[in-house]
Amino acid sequence: MSVAANIPGCREFNVDHVRADFPILGSMIHGRPLVYLDNAATTQKPRSVIDALVNYYETSNANIHRAVHQLSERATAMHDAARETIRRFINARHVEEIIFTRGTTEAINLVAATYGISASSSNNSIIITAMEHHSNIVPWQLLAERTGATLKVIPIDKDGVLDLHAAAALLAEGGKILSIVHISNALGTVNPINQLIQMAHQHNIPVLVDGAQSVQHMKINVQELDADFFAFSGHKIYGPTGIGVLYGRREILNQMPPFNGGGDMIRTVTFEKSTWNDLPYKFEAGTPDIAGAIGLAAALDYLSQFDMEAIAAHEHDLLTYATNGLNALGKIRIIGNAPEKSGAVSFVVDGVHPHDLGTFLDHDGIAIRTGHHCAQPVMDYFNIPATARASFGLYNTREEVEVFCQSLERTIKILS
Ligand code: ALA
Repeated sequence: MSVAANIPGCREFNVDHVRADFPILGSMIHGRPLVYLDNAATTQKPRSVIDALVNYYETSNANIHRAVHQLSERATAMHDAARETIRRFINARHVEEIIFTRGTTEAINLVAATYGISASSSNNSIIITAMEHHSNIVPWQLLAERTGATLKVIPIDKDGVLDLHAAAALLAEGGKILSIVHISNALGTVNPINQLIQMAHQHNIPVLVDGAQSVQHMKINVQELDADFFAFSGHKIYGPTGIGVLYGRREILNQMPPFNGGGDMIRTVTFEKSTWNDLPYKFEAGTPDIAGAIGLAAALDYLSQFDMEAIAAHEHDLLTYATNGLNALGKIRIIGNAPEKSGAVSFVVDGVHPHDLGTFLDHDGIAIRTGHHCAQPVMDYFNIPATARASFGLYNTREEVEVFCQSLERTIKILS
């Protein structure tokens, strides 16, 4: 069933047709049809992504930038084309602003270890928020240990909404960077990212946006966003694991020292001194994940068939439907009630450990995530050890949400 209007030139968004593109969705788990609601952890892959990986290895596998033979030239051309696909998808101005990484985590570590180490700012504060994933906390703590930088944290309220007054006050004190999640993986909160970027820029503070949970749910235009850095992971946007992207503004990337040292990132090497390659290669030492980049481009091509607004409307409908369904069960406490949410609903059932919920649901073929979601400070703030989380992708349906709520209702009756 389609729940949103579509724009001319796009493939009509029809969830039944979309499901047929994802081979794994036909699986049975413990004798029940798979209901996959763990999309914030990783998404399933359409046939076109799987085919792109197989096709690359069957017809074009070679190392890139290193040989004149035909296979190497073909692999290099495919890798270059993948980078251009990614540039187009997020509307970066220049293709050399797209750096391949292993994922969001490595992208943030790259910025912390290069921009973070550079002496380009007189103010040594790093500003993050209380709803960050560990991957947007720990790299900055490592940097703080090395440089004496101070980590400042914008607080959240009981609904999981950022305190914008506190943000304004912290930004007014100045800082080296604001590194902020776009959509919280643990709470589903959508941060007012345009406003925060504007606020930071008023104080000449560059901004890194962790887009791991946003790029698959909404149209991202990095030029309109005016972010200095934007990071995302391939596997959360229907692409392969092990590949991700750091977008950075060319001017800022050019000023940054390299990250890893090795092949491809150099221009010249002597024992006395080495010089660095141009962007983006300066940040891509060693043989990259060539197949991963090609697979990621196939995933973005897959999504680009559709109007992202139609996908967003469908997923928003699922989130609202699930939230209403959970509230109707009674014994559920939703963690994170921001007015703007996307992608995920986290919840607890008092007296029942989330892992037990997850195990019972698994026996009904339903995959959700339980745990601290790599966001222990969020759990500490809400004074809970863990939550259960259902998270949605473009192929999920209202019927699946109903199966999930019915299974949860039975589970709660048994366990509480
Ligand atoms: N960060 C991923 C999640 O939220 C793994 O599940």
